[in-house]
Amino acid sequence: MSPLRNCILNKNTKAKPIWLMRQAGRYMPEFREIRKKNTNFIHLCLNEKLSYEITLQPIEKFDFDAAIIFSDILMVPYGLGQKVEFKKDFGPILGDLNINLISKINKKNFTESLQPIYNSIQKVSKYTNQKNKDLIGFVGAPWTLLVYMINKQSPKKNLDSKLFNNEKLINEILGILDKYIKLHIENQVKSGANIIQIFDSWAELVEDKNLEKFIYNPTSSLVKYTKSLGVPVICFPRNIKNYKKYVEEVKPDVINIDYNVDPKLIKENIDIVIQGGLDPKILLSDLENVKNESLRYLNLFKDRPYIFNLGHGVLPETDPNNVDYLVKLVKDFKC
Ligand code: CP3
Repeated sequence: MSPLRNCILNKNTKAKPIWLMRQAGRYMPEFREIRKKNTNFIHLCLNEKLSYEITLQPIEKFDFDAAIIFSDILMVPYGLGQKVEFKKDFGPILGDLNINLISKINKKNFTESLQPIYNSIQKVSKYTNQKNKDLIGFVGAPWTLLVYMINKQSPKKNLDSKLFNNEKLINEILGILDKYIKLHIENQVKSGANIIQIFDSWAELVEDKNLEKFIYNPTSSLVKYTKSLGVPVICFPRNIKNYKKYVEEVKPDVINIDYNVDPKLIKENIDIVIQGGLDPKILLSDLENVKNESLRYLNLFKDRPYIFNLGHGVLPETDPNNVDYLVKLVKDFKC
């Protein structure tokens, strides 16, 4: 069985499979070369030939155990007809959210506009099946997509909390997101993705009293749906305060932890498969430090099914040699 599925489904502890969030991206000179000539990021995600190539760049270079399809969580708002652009050195900028327009989209239009992603997944899955690797499809969680759709830029830059006061509108958008995120999951699985990861990058912004409404209920609806397709699901509610409660409410197969949480407490309190944790900044330091910090996670989760990953995405300034060193270290680790 492929390495991640063996860890997730059989609870295998003998090997620690490894892949990294944002493994296909800006720290790789091979990616930057392609990106230079393709200034429109959305078009790049919808170029099935290049998306296939970019997805496999880190697999061929570092021999990760899983590929993650080169795409973006904001392809769902794009598929719903909202304008999405990526400005250099700024990040995503979305157009005004026009609920009337979005309500007119149907499943067929949505699937057609994202079809190149599904074609790319089909091609990559032929490669990963042949090499006995996994292929991760992904989506943004409803809350994180809602934040981008109504804030129209990263909340890191600015977040207007008044935007969330219109409860009727918020519920309407959450309903639409539930339907179309499920469709995006289904299309990815039908094309060959054999694991789904749900990114909730802005889970930390939700107050305790709203967790059920914005995080637990909408995410557990997606988790149930993904499981019904026979595919394991990994959740990453970045910087959520109470991972234990999240796991109890949402019931993913795997929980990806961030780097602010104490992995010892996670080990003691959560008994499902764990993924990630290492601070991506560690990869900016020297190899000795990379070794010590990585061994901390490997030793702690030695007797547990554990998928090696980071506590957030690889940083653009990371030296690819350090990534190479990390992958070898994890693969050589004896459990
Ligand atoms: O992990 C992978 O290698 C697969 C590809 C992938 C991308 N985005 C490509 C990308 C994945 C899984 C994502 C997820 C994503 N996108 C998230 C969740 C994970 C996280 O980082 O919290 C979020 C919040 C987004 C939205 C987004 N896309 C932002 C905020 C930005 C700009 C800042 C940044 O991190 O680069 C992007 C752009 C983006 N998505 C790039 C890539 C390779 C960089 C594009 C460029 O070259 O400018």
